[in-house]
Amino acid sequence: MIKIAPSILAADFARLAEEVQRAEEGGADWIHVDVMDGHFVPNLTIGPPVIASLRRVTRSYLDVHLMIEAPERYLEAFRRAGADGLTVHVEATPHLHRVVQQIRELGATPGVSLNPATPLSALEEILPYVDLVLCMTVNPGFGGQAFIPSTLDKVRRLRQMLDERGLQVLIEVDGGVDEETAPRLVAAGARVLVAGTSIFQAPDGVQNAIARLRASVSELA
Ligand code: DX5
Ligand code: ZN
Repeated sequence: MIKIAPSILAADFARLAEEVQRAEEGGADWIHVDVMDGHFVPNLTIGPPVIASLRRVTRSYLDVHLMIEAPERYLEAFRRAGADGLTVHVEATPHLHRVVQQIRELGATPGVSLNPATPLSALEEILPYVDLVLCMTVNPGFGGQAFIPSTLDKVRRLRQMLDERGLQVLIEVDGGVDEETAPRLVAAGARVLVAGTSIFQAPDGVQNAIARLRASVSELA
């Protein structure tokens, strides 16, 4: 079963509760929340207070993508605010194993993410400890960017790495995901699709956009 995780980065921040509700009614499985610090990526977004507010209006799984340097400083705050999944970048901390352990100790689901230019070999030692790998399909920092085609093969090789090791780790993809790229990504092995622009900016509305995205992958997994 494919999970669809609308990214609220492309939603109207003044109407976040409504936007999230609309996505849920349209069949969203998770809500993807992009946290940026202006250091790890050249953009700033939101912090724990917004997640705490979201927590009060939704029961959905909050999939929090931390695009921040030294994420260990904030894990507890994000968990306390209501994050269910906490995903950190392998490029953002020299102590990835400790960070993943901390996430688990906090009772959240640990994920690790890779930028497009970071090789899969960076995951080798951490794979047995995580539940999810977020493979970036654009450079993190902004919504609405064009999908990077070479990441398809990376997802395929990641799937292979996991299968060879017999690991049940979810592959999530993020960036430029729409009806055209989603089926290719799912065929390559992705199981969680993050989509911002193609869902929240869809001219025919959030619910139709989620339905179209789901239909595009329905025969694949
Ligand atoms: C990018 C973020 C994404 C972003 C995706 O740094 O991690 O989650 O919202 O946006 P789209 O779907 O518009 O490419
Ligand atoms: Zn994201």
